[in-house]
Amino acid sequence: MSKRKSRETHMTSGECVSQVQRILRERFCHQGLPEKPVGLDSQYKHLLELLKRTAVHGESNSILIVGPRGTGKTMLLSCVLRELMDINEVQKNLLQVYLNGLLQTDDRIALREITRQLNLENVVGDKVFGSFAENLGFLLEALRKGDRGSSQPVLFVLDEFDLFAHHKNQTLLYNLLDVSQSAQAPVAVVGLTCRLDVLELLEKRVKSRFSHRQILVASSLTFGQYLDNVRSQLSLPQDFPDARFGQEWNDSVAKLCEDKSVEEILQKQFNSSKDFRSLHLLLLLALSRVNVSSPTLRAVDLLEASRLCTVDAKANMLHGLSILELCLIISMKHLNDIYDGEPFNFQMVHNEYKKFIQRKSNSVHNYEKPVILKAFEHLLQLELIKLVDGSSSKTQREYQLVRLLLDHGQIMEALQRYPQCPTDVKQWAVSSLA
Ligand SMILES: Nc1ncnc2c1ncn2[C@@H]1O[C@H](COP(=O)(O)OP(=O)(O)OP(=O)(O)O)[C@@H](O)[C@H]1O
Ligand SMILES: [Mg+2]
Repeated sequence: MSKRKSRETHMTSGECVSQVQRILRERFCHQGLPEKPVGLDSQYKHLLELLKRTAVHGESNSILIVGPRGTGKTMLLSCVLRELMDINEVQKNLLQVYLNGLLQTDDRIALREITRQLNLENVVGDKVFGSFAENLGFLLEALRKGDRGSSQPVLFVLDEFDLFAHHKNQTLLYNLLDVSQSAQAPVAVVGLTCRLDVLELLEKRVKSRFSHRQILVASSLTFGQYLDNVRSQLSLPQDFPDARFGQEWNDSVAKLCEDKSVEEILQKQFNSSKDFRSLHLLLLLALSRVNVSSPTLRAVDLLEASRLCTVDAKANMLHGLSILELCLIISMKHLNDIYDGEPFNFQMVHNEYKKFIQRKSNSVHNYEKPVILKAFEHLLQLELIKLVDGSSSKTQREYQLVRLLLDHGQIMEALQRYPQCPTDVKQWAVSSLA
């Protein structure tokens, strides 16, 4: 005991901080399974019941888990399987096959993968099969052999299920669902997809073989649950080597979550997406600001992380523009105001710029027209402006109609942070010359 105690007291704050970084980063990046899926209780129960019926009682079935990206479809299935595998009988019996629409891009590859995952390569050997159905039938039959008449249950997980619908004749889907309907062998087919309209993609004969069971994983998470989740995600485990540091850290996290400004940031994040993946990114960025000199997570860290997450790529691009290009953007902004968002051409932008040079500017150089046209073309290349659809390529560049692809807010924000932006340019952006 004395040895343990001495280890506890001898951890320097540097060691503590790096331990914290290690534990939490692992949690956010490795996407470990949570103790229990948050806010998905009924879905969890439903899926567990269904898979149990296949794994224990040998009933065949099919089901789709549908929901937007990052809402926990994969996690739900893994949690259910974790519980299912705790049952001794299931652990010995159930076979699992994982296919992913992004990897198994055609049915031949998928079949080879099924054979490999079922460890039946040797059994198949050099046999040649007439059809996909024959081949699949052979595989399932092989599982039956050696057992007393009953076949081993197989769970087929089809991730990115919708992509399998693009395979030729939907052969794989047809055959798997067909097996799941007949009493051939106990199989459960679980499809995961983020396409809510996935059933529309299925051919009639495939659709009719599907059980039409669906689990919707649209997050019904409340903000309270979300906040609780943030707290538990950031908290250190009880067995943290330095108990005192661990306790202090957890207290500071609890306090942080009650902070009004933090709540505001999280509310904003929650409103834009309840997706846990983007939350993890936010927390990870905030965590990276923790170091020995500030060994706790502060509200400013979260604020800064949130700013980084929501930073606008286009507004960022403006920082790399030259002053002349920036002036053209401001000219276009004014043209947008004057003509109510109607398209404009280079000649109009040029006039607006010239007016500025003559009347207000004392810091911007008066460039020649070809130089200005070059800058204009650069903006087109960067796709900050875009030719209006249907504008003929025969028209001279100067008269082709274009639209600005930036809004008022983006321009003003970028100007605020543009390094050494001349004040007269800034003023011009705020008030037009008219
Ligand atoms: N309700 C939840 N409770 C706890 N953790 C969750 C929940 N929903 C999502 N997560 C976490 O969010 C991350 C993303 O979830 P997951 O990979 O399951 O999403 P998905 O729906 O499968 O997305 P995709 O469609 O991109 O495959 C995982 O780390 C998961 O643990
Ligand atoms: Mg997934």
